[in-house]
Parts: sequence; structure tokens; C-alpha cells
Amino acid sequence: MDKKYINIAVLVSGGGTNLQALINAQNKGVIKSGKIRLVISNNKNAYALQRAQKAGISSCVITKKDCGSAQKMEENIIKTLEENQIDLIVLAGFMSILSESFTKKYDRRIINVHPSLIPSFCGEGYYGLRVHEAALKKGVKLTGATTHFVNEIPDGGEIIMQKAVNIKADDTPQTLQKRVMRLAEWQILPKSVEKISQEMLNKLEEN
Ligand code: GAR
Repeated sequence: MDKKYINIAVLVSGGGTNLQALINAQNKGVIKSGKIRLVISNNKNAYALQRAQKAGISSCVITKKDCGSAQKMEENIIKTLEENQIDLIVLAGFMSILSESFTKKYDRRIINVHPSLIPSFCGEGYYGLRVHEAALKKGVKLTGATTHFVNEIPDGGEIIMQKAVNIKADDTPQTLQKRVMRLAEWQILPKSVEKISQEMLNKLEEN
């Protein structure tokens, strides 16, 4: 099969700085085996939607509230993914845990970025600033970010890449979050997306 690009959908809920890192990487040619075709937000006020618009990427909003339940929301997300022939899903600050039936359907085709060195400070309840609050409370001297495949265990899928970041004595959850994003998340997420897209393309060529 002569497919040139892996079709990527990015799922977001908030600011979308990781989405921006992916857009920048695509523009610079760091991501060359995949194309971001669609952004899906489960929050209509997510600033990530404006980033998508500025970059000329189609976006849509699918919320649990509008759909009536988490299951219906997932059904609508799947329908949208299928309509757009999406091959690879990237969770970039998507604050909703996907069900087992969803993750099984897209086995090894969903990538998440998590703001700690898994298996530390991860799993249910560890998201956003809470992760950094927990790291500071524990007094660890090193934290970072992890990209991984998504399976039925929250933050439990196979690790793709990790990058460590030093914690400073005067860090607050906010300063730490910013540094982890800049030095780790925005670096390893685009690289991971390119790596997996390339592997998927290679596999298609073999078949
Ligand atoms: C990022 O730090 C991301 O790693 C984290 O939320 C933030 C989203 O920021 N995700 C999780 O905690 C998932 N468990 P962004 O919207 O600016 O990319």
C-alpha cells in the first residue's frame, strides 16, 4: 500500500502547549511521517482549539455533558476518528480516562504524554499540576516526562520515551510544571509521534 502519511488526531482539554509543540514540529519537518488532521477537545473553552484554528487544522468539540455520558462521548469520538480515517491518536493534555473498549480498539495506536517519570506519580488522580505537587511533597530531586502507549491501565501502557528534569530547591508546582513542559514534554512528544508514525508506515509497506 502506498500511504505517505499516518493520519493523526490530537485529543486535548486545555491550554494545548503540547499540541503547539506538535504543530511546530510538523512545520519544522521533525514530524514527517504523520500529519495532524484533526484536533478533538472535550472542553469547548480549551485554548488548544484556537491553536488548531491558527494552524489551519480542523477541530471539533465533543463533551461528556453534550453527549450525556462518558460512553456516548467515546462513541462520538470514535465516529469522528473513523470519518476522518485517523490512524494514530495523541493525547496531549486530554483529561478524561478512556475505557478499555476504546483502548483495545486502538491498541498501540494511542500515545499519551505524562508529566512525570512513570512509574512515579502516575495513575488515576495524577494529572496536571497535581503531579508536580506530589513530586514536590515527596521531595524527589529528579522528575520529568514520559510518553507511552495507552492501554486499559491509566498511565500503564508501554513506555516510548522519557526525559528527566532536575527539581530546584525553590520550585513551586507551577515553576516545575513549566520547566518539565519546556525541557521534557515538548521535546519527547513530537519525537515519539514521529517514531511511532514511521514504524506504522514501515509496517504498512511490509504488508
Ligand atoms: C501537560 O503537562 C500534560 O503532560 C498533562 O497536562 C498538561 C497539559 O498541558 N497531562 C496529564 O497530566 C495527563 N495525565 P497542555 O494542554 O498545555 O499540553
